[in-house]
Amino acid sequence: MAERPVAIVTGASRGIGRAIALELASLGYDLVVNRVQDSLPKTKTEAEELGAQCEFAQGDVSKAEDRRRLVETTKSKFGRCDMLVNNAGVSVAKRVDMLETTEESFDRVIGINLKGPYFLTQQVANWMIEQKKEHPERAFRIVNIGSISAYTSSPARGEYCVSKAGVTMMTKLYADRLAEYNIGVFEISPGIIETDMTSAVKGKYDKLIAEGLTPIRRWGRPEDVAKAVGAIAEGRLDFSTGQVINVDGGFHLRRL
Ligand SMILES: NC(=O)c1ccc[n+]([C@@H]2O[C@H](COP(=O)([O-])OP(=O)(O)OC[C@H]3O[C@@H](n4cnc5c(N)ncnc54)[C@H](OP(=O)(O)O)[C@@H]3O)[C@@H](O)[C@H]2O)c1
Repeated sequence: MAERPVAIVTGASRGIGRAIALELASLGYDLVVNRVQDSLPKTKTEAEELGAQCEFAQGDVSKAEDRRRLVETTKSKFGRCDMLVNNAGVSVAKRVDMLETTEESFDRVIGINLKGPYFLTQQVANWMIEQKKEHPERAFRIVNIGSISAYTSSPARGEYCVSKAGVTMMTKLYADRLAEYNIGVFEISPGIIETDMTSAVKGKYDKLIAEGLTPIRRWGRPEDVAKAVGAIAEGRLDFSTGQVINVDGGFHLRRL
């Protein structure tokens, strides 16, 4: 078994997932980084430059077989998993009025953003419970990357909103179920973060932010989200569980 703690980060090739993987590498974690495409993510070499051992496990989180392979890779390479970060996610392929949304788009988004993390967490949580019995001194944590879309209506991408609302409930459920094993479960709720996912709507959000959509008038950066995950990984929230941590420039505040 590896001596350093090990984290699985899904969707770690770019954007928020990449920043989280590098933050964890800098905090002394070894990593299993995942992405859906087959090419090696540069995150692997970047994490290694920070002193981490880093394995790449390609896989589609919406597919049971790929999730099993991801966990098997972690077991065979490291023999332990101390942290799971469910970050992989997609927006809708095309914004469509919810009165016209197809079942195909709904199934795709729910499969990747909700069903995938739900059952990956189930698999990893069962393994964490086993590990906890043998190593009660070790800390185990699960972080789900949600979104302000969990509670903000965007009728042109309803299936994305529903998927993220589901992640909020999933966080509460696993936090409740795993508390007896002292496994902390958290949701990070990012606001508008500058990544490939938001590049198509950059002009729209530039304007909204400049007009005051968020009390803190700037785009979020992947590193903003990664630092919050880092605080959890360092054990700074160890008497909390089921917590939603807003990393959104204050978007969630209601203002009058
Ligand atoms: N950007 C924002 O403003 C924002 C705001 C709130 C929440 N979020 C959430 O934050 C998370 C990361 O978003 P991001 O902006 O960093 O996205 P991004 O830049 O588009 O990166 C998405 C990552 O997820 C991976 N991925 C996509 N589908 C996958 C699948 N089926 N199985 C495994 N990996 C898959 C991608 O892998 P490949 O490189 O192989 O395609 C990539 O690593 C998502 O859950 C998103 O919903 C983002």
